[in-house]
This record gives sequence, structure tokens and C-alpha cells, in this order.
Amino acid sequence: MCAAPVLASTREELSKLLTDARRAGHRVGFVPTMGALHAGHASLMDAAREAVGDGPVVVSIFVNPLQFGAGEDLDRYPRTLEADLEVCAAHGVDIVFAPAVDEVYPGSTTGVVEPQVTVDPGPLAGILEGATRPGHFRGVLIVVAKLFGLVRPDVAVFGQKDYQQLALIRRMADDLCLGIDVVGAETVREDDDLALSSRNRYLEPEQREQAVALSRTLRRARADAIHGADSALAAARAELRASEGVDLDYLVITGTDLGPAPSTGEARILIAARVGTTRLIDNMPIHLGTPDRHTS
Ligand code: PAF
Repeated sequence: MCAAPVLASTREELSKLLTDARRAGHRVGFVPTMGALHAGHASLMDAAREAVGDGPVVVSIFVNPLQFGAGEDLDRYPRTLEADLEVCAAHGVDIVFAPAVDEVYPGSTTGVVEPQVTVDPGPLAGILEGATRPGHFRGVLIVVAKLFGLVRPDVAVFGQKDYQQLALIRRMADDLCLGIDVVGAETVREDDDLALSSRNRYLEPEQREQAVALSRTLRRARADAIHGADSALAAARAELRASEGVDLDYLVITGTDLGPAPSTGEARILIAARVGTTRLIDNMPIHLGTPDRHTS
């Protein structure tokens, strides 16, 4: 069993903990999370460790009110700090930063006080997830920008499972010259191929079985990608029509940067669907026009 991480709940505590490591010239690795940690998050911690070697790995656990819309599951979002600390300990995390809302958004006693200066996520935030969750990515980028400012990491690791989020954070780091290496870690899957997500816990046993249709649909498309995007999407839609209990929101093929798909070469296929009341997302790389190197 690895040593327990040091828990910091204020900016000052966090800053003191990181000062010595910076003086010693270590690189700092960072994994921002909202807690409810599972094996997917653990793989991000491992990737951060690999990136910084002996340097400190910091995990933040903060359920960010700004990225939840009206009627979304902010209150219902699982808060499991004790169990989360165990996951962090088992994966050699050095520091867990778990601030209160007021620490991140000063002055927030009743309701959240937004900063006056915020981040405009641009057009990428209006498509796909952003089309059904207005303001979501603005809230994500504001908190990630703040957390980047507090932790000042050299490397930050995010999951490819939230591909649009990853693309936007990369874009922010690039466009605003933040000097942070944003790493995208591969999605971790259950044995039956369902992508790990904190939301999977909301699925009833029958819905849990139905949810496998998302990854099956993506793999069906990849198997047909040799004939191009239209053919791949048609095959995938046929696959999905045969799946019960899955209410499709979108199924698209885009460029790897979420721009238009190329006619041949590397692209991304993304799906969002509701299973019962739970909205799930998944995505995979897809190679259009020639046999898919990713197919497995
Ligand atoms: O992916 C998440 O858990 C959150 O969106 C993040 C990046 C921690 C920001 O709150």
C-alpha cells in the first residue's frame, strides 16, 4: 500500500506543498477531477506519474457548480472523498486538493460568485455536448483555468472519454499560451467494453446491459470505415436500431480536432445517447478510407 496523499483544502496549503518540489526542479503533474474516482481516473494518475517521474502528482477533487446547468445532477453528483483518497493513495498521488466552493470562487456563500474575467470557449463549445448543455464548457474552462493557476502544473492529464472537453482544454492551453502540456489518456473500459464513467452507477441492471450498444455502435462503424464516413455511419445506425432502450442524441464522425471529417485518414467517431434517464457518451479513433488500424 502506498503512502496516503497529503490533503490540501486551501490555496495556501496547496501552494506551500508545491513550493519545495518546484525549488527542487521537479515537474508537477496534475489530474483535475470531480471525485467519484474509478479505474478511468486511476489511469490518468498513472499517466501523470509517468510524465513527471519523481515530481509531485496532484489530483484535485472539486464538483464545479459552474459546469452544471439548471436541472442537471449537481446535488445528486456523488461525493465520496474517503474512497477517493484510497484510490489516490493506491496510485501514488502526492497531493489531493479538495477545496470548498468558496475557496475556488471567493465570496460564494449562497450561490456561486463567478469571476468577473472569464474564459470564452469559442465555437467548439456550441456543438455536440455543448448543443444540449449550454454554458457547460464555459464552466469547465473557467474552473480548469483557475485550477491551472493554483497548481501551475507542467503536465495535466484528461481522459479521452470526454473528447470534446479534452479538445477544448488543449485549445485553451494553446490559444492562451499557458505552457502546460495537456495529455489525453485512453478511455478505460469494462470487460464488456462499456466506457467507465461516474454516471454508470445510475444504470439499472437491464440498462447497464443496454448501454453496451454505444461502444458496439462505434466499433461497427470502424469496421465499415474503409468505405468512408457515410458508409460507416449508415452501418453504425443500423447496428443501433437493433439495440433496445437506447435513445440516440448524436452519432458523428469529425476530424481529430472536432472539425469536419477528412475523406480519408484519421478521424474521430462520437456518440451520445440516453439509456433510461442517464446520458452516456463515448468516442473512438476511426481511420477513414483504408483498413482501420485501430479496429480490434
Ligand atoms: O472531467 C471532469 O471531471 C471535469 O469536467 C473537470 C475537468 C475536472 C472540470 O471540473
